[in-house]
Amino acid sequence: MNILILGGGGREHSLAWAVMQNPKCDKLIVAPGNAGIAQIAECASLNAEDGGAVVTFAEENAIDFVIVGPEAPLAAGVADRLRAAGILVFGPSEAAARLEASKSFTKEVCDAAQAPTAGYGHFTDAEAARAHVRENGAPIVVKADGLAAGKGVIVAMDEDTALAAIDDMFGGAFGGAGAEVVIEEFMEGEEASLFVLCDGEDILSIGSAQDHKRVGEGDTGPNTGGMGAYSPAPVLSPEIEARAMEQIVKPTMRVMAERGTPYQGVLYVGLMIKDGQPRLVEYNVRFGDPECQVLMMRLGAQALDLMQAAAEGRLKEAQVNWADDHAITVVMAAAGYPGDYAKGSEIKGLAALPEDSMNMVFHAGTKADGDRILANGGRVLNVTARGQNLQEARDRAYAMVDQIDWPEGFVRRDIGWRAL
Ligand code: AMP
Ligand code: GLY
Repeated sequence: MNILILGGGGREHSLAWAVMQNPKCDKLIVAPGNAGIAQIAECASLNAEDGGAVVTFAEENAIDFVIVGPEAPLAAGVADRLRAAGILVFGPSEAAARLEASKSFTKEVCDAAQAPTAGYGHFTDAEAARAHVRENGAPIVVKADGLAAGKGVIVAMDEDTALAAIDDMFGGAFGGAGAEVVIEEFMEGEEASLFVLCDGEDILSIGSAQDHKRVGEGDTGPNTGGMGAYSPAPVLSPEIEARAMEQIVKPTMRVMAERGTPYQGVLYVGLMIKDGQPRLVEYNVRFGDPECQVLMMRLGAQALDLMQAAAEGRLKEAQVNWADDHAITVVMAAAGYPGDYAKGSEIKGLAALPEDSMNMVFHAGTKADGDRILANGGRVLNVTARGQNLQEARDRAYAMVDQIDWPEGFVRRDIGWRAL
């Protein structure tokens, strides 16, 4: 099987790593890829959001299966173009990708599905939005409706912050994404994510994870794309997971099918859990980054079979074979991230690290310069390890971190603290 993965971050490195281990994979191309991915697969430059270009590339390279990593190509309809060309693809249609691309759409679907989630109001007018905040008081959550690179959510602990967020959003701070605003009830509890494969009809959970969004130790400081993650998430007990599947995921999938927009791909189910009851925070229509890295570490080669089963509508007969294990990933970021940071510093010591089913350093933002590996982004490396328990996995991951010689980088030293 010839496989094309779209994307070029740590998520796609981990997908490529899992896919390459499966004997079914004859050839793997990742577009655009990165310096780490180039060590295990062919990288190609391709505009992943241009459906026509992706179809042409796939045909020219005799690609049998396309796996879409990030949300932007999905929201741009790339999966639809591939399907129309008769190419097998893992990832939802543009219409189904609205579960991530529009927060008011997701709320509407949750209403129809009677899925537990935060109460909300939906506004296209700033004055009405302000009135809603004054009526309901703080804490309250203000969200730009569209895709805003993870920055369009303001959890406001006081009214003034919420009102300022409304002004920013309608003032164009998030471009078109903020032309509509969703205002939600603030939910208390512990957050965790569940990853569910969907084939339009059947669903299959492929694991849970928790990430650390704040840049600072103790979960403090500004939000980032994620400074680390671990799987499984202890807060998602089998009972709570079953509840989330029955009350949230299944009815959502039923509503999507009834609307004529069945969902196929992986559904990232962001949950808030309180007193044993999960409520939906958000859906994403792709794997989380860095959550994917810990899931791939735990699934290994079977990840390809599972994604293929989802794409071919065969999930009913699929099952996950779990080792009773844990995985953790620690993000190494460039000093200054998530604010301004420099690119181009050299990272040494990577070649001496183990690369096996227990230890992997996935590249998120790197570039090769001859034999040298240079930092080329904010989040740069995902140091990932597996173990019999979380402590063992964590010790392995930090032992690798300590062998990496990169003075311009930093890590959080407390990834996994809530679970330990
Ligand atoms: P989202 O992009 O919707 O995942 O929101 C980003 C983060 O904001 C989430 O991971 C939560 O930590 C927080 N958040 C979003 N919505 C709510 C809510 N209704 N109540 C409490 N926290 C929320
Ligand atoms: N780590 C959060 C996300 O991928 O959205």
